[in-house]
Amino acid sequence: MHVELSNVTKVYEDPPETVTALKDISFHVNEGEFLAIVGPSGCGKSTLLRMIAGLDHPSSGQIRFRGDLLTAPHSKISMVFQSFALLPWRTVLRNVEFGLEVQGKPREEREGVARNLLEMVGLRGYENLYPKQLSGGMKQRVGIARALAIDPEVVLMDEAFSAIDEFTAEALRAEVSDIHKETRKTFLLVTHNLPEAIELADRILVLSARPARVKSIVGVDLERPRASTDSEFITIHKDIFALLQAELENSIMRHRLSELKEFRRLKDMEER
Ligand SMILES: Nc1ncnc2c1ncn2[C@@H]1O[C@H](COP(=O)(O)OP(=O)(O)OP(=O)(O)O)[C@@H](O)[C@H]1O
Ligand SMILES: [Mg+2]
Repeated sequence: MHVELSNVTKVYEDPPETVTALKDISFHVNEGEFLAIVGPSGCGKSTLLRMIAGLDHPSSGQIRFRGDLLTAPHSKISMVFQSFALLPWRTVLRNVEFGLEVQGKPREEREGVARNLLEMVGLRGYENLYPKQLSGGMKQRVGIARALAIDPEVVLMDEAFSAIDEFTAEALRAEVSDIHKETRKTFLLVTHNLPEAIELADRILVLSARPARVKSIVGVDLERPRASTDSEFITIHKDIFALLQAELENSIMRHRLSELKEFRRLKDMEER
C-alpha cells in the first residue's frame, strides 16, 4: 500500500460552528495506481487531499505513506491546484524549479530538470515568461511540471482541469494519462467531472455528502485510451451518477428537515 487512510475524521472547530467534513474515512492507494475521488460539493474532497499533502491534519485517524505516519508535507508527495497557485514574481522556469530550490539542489541541476519537464508539457520557449503572460491551460502545464520537478512518488490533483477550457483540458488529461503510464507514479485526482474520472482512473472513490464517508469504490477495468462512447464506459458513468444523485437528494432532504426544525422552533417561540 502506497498511501493508506485509516478512520480519518476531520472536524473544523470554528466557534460557534463545528463542521465535520470527513467521518471515518478508510481507503488505500496502491503504488502506481490512479485513484479518482468524486463526491458532492463541500463534502470534504479538498480537505482530504490537503491532509495527504500534509497541509492540514486529521482530527482523528491516521494517514500513512509507505507505512510511515504522515504528519507534515513529504518530499515525495506533490500537488497540482485548480487555481494553479503559481508565484507571479517568478518566471515559468523559476516556478518549476521552486520545489528543488527548497530542497537545496544546485542551480544547474534545478534548471536542467525544469527545462526537460517544460519540454515534456509542451512549453519549450516559454521559460522566461511570467505567469500573467500565460493562458489558463499553459499555467496548468506549469503547475504540472512544477509538481513533477521534485520527482514525487505521489501526485495529488485537486480539480486540476476544471479552470481551463474543455479543449485544452482534454489535451492535458491525455498528457497526464501518458505521464502516469510512463512514470507509474501514484495519482490521486479530485474531480466533479465523471467522464474525466472514468477516462483516467483505475478506481474511483465515491464519497457521500458531508460529513463524507466512503460510499463506494468503483473499479474501472477498461483498456486505455478509453472512449466515452464505449458501452461499458457509459454503464460506469450511469452507476456513479446514480450514487451521487442519491447523495444529493439525501443532503437536500437533510437540509429541508433542518429548515423544518428551525421553522417549528420559531413558531413555538411565537406562540409562547
Ligand atoms: N479551514 C476551514 N475552516 C473551517 N471549515 C472549513 C475549512 N476548510 C473547509 N471547511 C469546511 O469543510 C467542508 C469541506 O470543504 P472542502 O473544501 O474540503 O469540500 P470539497 O468537497 O472540496 O468541496 P468542493 O467540491 O466545492 O470543492 C466545507 O463545509 C467547508 O466549509
Ligand atoms: Mg474542493
